[in-house]
Amino acid sequence: MRFMKLSLVAGLLACGFGPVNAGYTPDFNGGVDVKAAVQAAIEAAASAGGLLPEPGRPESAGRVWISMERGDVSALDGALFKRAPVAQNKRLAVYEFETDELDQLSDGMYRTFARAPGFFAHDTLEGALEDLQAAPQPPARAYTLDQAARVKELAALPREEGISAAIRALAAFKNRGYRYATGVDASKWLQKEWVRLAENRPYVSVAPFKHAAFPQESVILTVLGSAEPEKVVVLGGHLDSVAGYGDNPAPGADDNASGAAVTQEIARALLEGGYRPAKTIKFIAFAAEEAGLRGSGEIAAAFKKAGVRVEGMLNLDMTNYKGSERDIYFVSDNSSPEQNAFLGRLIDAYLPYTWGTLKCGYGCSDHASWTKNGYPASYSFESTFEQHNPFIHKATDTLDKCGGNAAHALKFARLGVAYAVELAK
Ligand code: BES
Ligand code: ZN
Repeated sequence: MRFMKLSLVAGLLACGFGPVNAGYTPDFNGGVDVKAAVQAAIEAAASAGGLLPEPGRPESAGRVWISMERGDVSALDGALFKRAPVAQNKRLAVYEFETDELDQLSDGMYRTFARAPGFFAHDTLEGALEDLQAAPQPPARAYTLDQAARVKELAALPREEGISAAIRALAAFKNRGYRYATGVDASKWLQKEWVRLAENRPYVSVAPFKHAAFPQESVILTVLGSAEPEKVVVLGGHLDSVAGYGDNPAPGADDNASGAAVTQEIARALLEGGYRPAKTIKFIAFAAEEAGLRGSGEIAAAFKKAGVRVEGMLNLDMTNYKGSERDIYFVSDNSSPEQNAFLGRLIDAYLPYTWGTLKCGYGCSDHASWTKNGYPASYSFESTFEQHNPFIHKATDTLDKCGGNAAHALKFARLGVAYAVELAK
């Protein structure tokens, strides 16, 4: 505990005085009393309640191996990186961390960079070392648009009310941290909601994906394909939230109740529209994204290991803040250029929206886990990088910052329906 407090202070100081991020105001910037802020952070960490023990894995309990870009490490240059890397190649380095240091790392990175650099966290050293290998390339495939009537009918079904209600419910949990009781409760709540969608539909099932090293579960709703059930299309977004360290209030209404809610609304619209795909569709709410893509990392690796044929993955993370001129932006890195182009064509053909592209940075959200495992993945985002919601990762990431409704998020739900229908046919 003593070690944790010391490193917390050092980390805060390092982060607080790092280069200032364009479009993002660090809490400790601009004449705030740093000493008082640090003291408050220590007290908050010390009194953090609701922290659950990590299940299983006694030999590595509390430890995690992360991989990140070496350039990002040198830019961070905080107390966190006094340690030597366990391994590295030209681009990436692998470090061993205490689980308790992860919040600090993501918070520090977010404050230091003008982009979200991200890192991958693994339960095992072996998993992290695999990151040093080049990612396998997905096989080339054709993308066709020939379901116009079905898409137009089904893409009209998502409702703003459905999305905003789910955002409100998720944001009402004190936080959805992957190690906290309320983060577990939020996952269980979502499972119950999704089970309702499966009722009286024998080809639909809901199951938690239990993670070995932390208590929050990912949630998977499977719509079994009628013709080629072994081929799988994945749509999803992370259900966890974070705001600084520990058990702080983290409503995460935009990041990422909005993406989880859109995922749910796509499933609802398709199922209530009486749609049954030829291929299998899996809707996933990922646990522990904010801790280094740990939930999606484990799931995508498990799918690859089991030989699951994932035809495509669409990541929904931050969908409800209209910060830019265009409606939907596609992240160009750690994603599939061919599938990104297909998504653009879907909008042009079927939806009255405009789109653009942005660059995120190394592995900034769950699509990167699928790309890393050789699957075609895309990430649809609310704005340009510079104009994204400035309240994320704070207690102020609430629905009212997005106009109190889910009008922007609705566009992503309609796109998700079009994507599912044209890819899972
Ligand atoms: N939703 C964000 C990613 C994001 C933020 C994309 C801002 C574009 C603009 C995601 O939940 C997140 O916070 N990711 C972390 C990295 C992750 C590997 C811990 C980040 O960006 O710092
Ligand atoms: Zn985030």
